Amino acid sequence: MTAYLGDVVNAVYVVAVIAFILGLKAMSSPETARRGIVYAGAAMLVAVAVTFVSPGLSNFALIALGVIIGGGVGWYWARVVQMTAMPQMVAVFNGMGGGSAAAIAAVELLSTLSNPTTSSLSLAGAIIGSISIAGSVVAFLKLQGWMRQKAIAYPGRQPISVTVLAVGVALGVYAVAGLNAIWLLPFFVLLLLYGVLLTLPIGGADMPVVISLFNALTGIAVALDGFALVNGPLGDAGYAMVIAGTLVGAAGSLLTILMSRAMNRSIRNVIFGAFGATEEVGGAVQGSMKPIDVDDAAVLMAYANEVIIAPGYGMAVAQAQQKVKELSDVLEAKGVAVKFAIHPVAGRMPGHMNVLLAEAGIDYSKLFDRDEIDPEFANADVVLVIGANDVVNPAARRQGSPLFGMPILDVDRAKNVIVIKRGQGKGFAGIENDLFYKDNCRMLYGDAQQVVGKLVTALKKS
Ligand code: TAP
Repeated sequence: MTAYLGDVVNAVYVVAVIAFILGLKAMSSPETARRGIVYAGAAMLVAVAVTFVSPGLSNFALIALGVIIGGGVGWYWARVVQMTAMPQMVAVFNGMGGGSAAAIAAVELLSTLSNPTTSSLSLAGAIIGSISIAGSVVAFLKLQGWMRQKAIAYPGRQPISVTVLAVGVALGVYAVAGLNAIWLLPFFVLLLLYGVLLTLPIGGADMPVVISLFNALTGIAVALDGFALVNGPLGDAGYAMVIAGTLVGAAGSLLTILMSRAMNRSIRNVIFGAFGATEEVGGAVQGSMKPIDVDDAAVLMAYANEVIIAPGYGMAVAQAQQKVKELSDVLEAKGVAVKFAIHPVAGRMPGHMNVLLAEAGIDYSKLFDRDEIDPEFANADVVLVIGANDVVNPAARRQGSPLFGMPILDVDRAKNVIVIKRGQGKGFAGIENDLFYKDNCRMLYGDAQQVVGKLVTALKKS
């Protein structure tokens, strides 16, 4: 009976894993992403539920309590979170995964210290999981503004970090080799400290990449724990963890690489470069910023053949997407073609702009990524930049700029550029934007939601 039950549980895990893979695939396009989330969520629910009937499982009440508390907090937080606070929420949720992986590894280490294979796997899971939870907590504190957001660079930071890591790992190995669990305590303390030291010198703008990296690490830690569990009484659950962890590890790694590429940075530079710790040197911009008022901007757009809208983080802050949809509708009603230029790292998380614009009901067919839209900028009558800064900064073409080499939206090549922003605020990279000083650029100051609303009103009147 028990063997039969084990087969059923395994069969359900296989179905869940297929649903995970289909879900991940569906998440790669905005049209199918919602379906992908449902597939993956349902698969996780089924996998957790079926684990309760796994042979060898005990402590049901305690597990159920954990599921209720964790699930309840997660459900509530995910419902109330502001879109702009999404990265820090992902950081915390991801950190919990890393923490769970470290906790499972700790239990395994204590109970199977005499088994060299299991304890080595658990040790590796503990190392990665501990770094992931400590780093994710620092990422959360920075993004939430509860500690200095810029890179915190201090002399000798790399040798100090490497020493902490090396001593920590050595203590863990010593504990396993000498079968002496007491050394696991300083091992965990040092690994957690390493996670903190690793993340402190990383600036806020790089944080989404780092969160994605920690996410990948969490997946790998879970997979390692799964390998360790496979030999124990809960072997079947171990297989599920291996597969789910590997999927998370692979997906997180790919996302990390894609984001780094979009910023033209190496992962090494993101982690060890302390980007943003110092101010930009040289590269003083020429000219002055020239304002435009709402009525003149409306006229310019009303007489254009094509308007390309380039949204950025400010649109998200202002929650202007609904007004942007109205603007797009009113322009199209006047015979103006409207397209959206989406930079891969506009906003603060992957797909940020796509999600917001989709939420407002803007058709996906109007959204173009950088490579697709780039050749069109030179022919566009008007490019309307809404709360974007770094992703449209031509300084990225200038050697010596911290943004040098980052692929940007070449909006400055358009005949006219109108930039909506509140004032003289810099972008996330903290550097001046050459675009704002160009002859073809006009600044339309104000909160994006209010200004776009006024543009809609002015266009309706004209
Ligand atoms: P940013 O460079 O962050 O610039 C946003 C601009 O929006 C600011 O200059 C700000 O100027 C303006 N703004 C803020 N609130 C506003 C409001 N209520 N109304 C109108 N404007 C407002 O944005 P971006 O161009 O989207 O660039 C994203 C940055 O994040 C890049 O540096 C990118 O590398 C980094 N990053 C993104 C990701 C992902 S995955 N998206 C990952 C890692 C890093 P004012 O204060 O003057 O209004």
